[in-house]
Amino acid sequence: MVQTKYEFGDCRQLIKKLDSESIHLAVTSPPYNIGKKYGIYSDDVALEEWKKLIDETTKEVSRVLAKNGSFFLNVSPIPDKKTKEIIPLDSIAWEIGKKNGFYLRNKIMWHFNNMQNCTNRLSGRWEAILWLTKDLNKYTFNLKDVKIPVITQGDKRFDASAGRNPTDVWYFDRVNNMTKKKLGIEEAPCVYPVPMIERIIKMSTNPGDWVLDPFVGSGTTLVAAKRIGRNSIGYELDSKYKTVIEKRLKNETAQTKL
Ligand SMILES: C[S@@+](CC[C@H](N)C(=O)[O-])C[C@H]1O[C@@H](n2cnc3c(N)ncnc32)[C@H](O)[C@@H]1O
Repeated sequence: MVQTKYEFGDCRQLIKKLDSESIHLAVTSPPYNIGKKYGIYSDDVALEEWKKLIDETTKEVSRVLAKNGSFFLNVSPIPDKKTKEIIPLDSIAWEIGKKNGFYLRNKIMWHFNNMQNCTNRLSGRWEAILWLTKDLNKYTFNLKDVKIPVITQGDKRFDASAGRNPTDVWYFDRVNNMTKKKLGIEEAPCVYPVPMIERIIKMSTNPGDWVLDPFVGSGTTLVAAKRIGRNSIGYELDSKYKTVIEKRLKNETAQTKL
């Protein structure tokens, strides 16, 4: 029986309740410090404070991850709120990961369309997902479970049915307001796509494994884990997300596949 748990409070405290090496995959999208209206969390802090949040969380994630575990951290370059200079939060997060003993396996480019167009620089169309592992060589990587269709069909030299490596550039539609409305989760500001998290979970866990999301927001990671049949635990600072998480998990039980 698959277990799905969530708790409200500061993830840096809540993670301390988990046993060391008890989690096989951590996947999350932290706040980006771009002034999003999450609720009680202020997404408008000094960069040093943001770094502290990521550093303290990463330390705890490292402690609870199994030796062959992975940490997928979705974080993006952002424009500085005043000057609009681009701050490479993904590079900063990589340094924090490295300092805490993680190895970078891939910097995945999550590519999407339908974002605002810039007039004074190139329009941004990707976010980074850092794939960090605790061990440089030993980690779960179920490539066969995430293969995608081959590009050239009918080439007799290759077995097309075997599929191909999904590469480090992934296209997934962003969850726009229309989709959120369909799901009845308009109140959740930054929802990442369930199919993208499903791919990560399939790739980096096996049945019986535990998935952790320290910044679970509207519960996307819990929904994806449930679909794949993995145990999951999510933490969220703001209890206003309880209703939306409950609603999404209930929809899953009803086999809704939106
Ligand atoms: C980018 S959102 C996550 C969205 C999520 N991936 C989804 O699909 O809904 C980041 C979340 O982190 C939460 N948060 C901020 N600081 C936190 C902390 N210290 N502990 C737990 N959650 C926190 C915010 O309230 C916000 O909901």
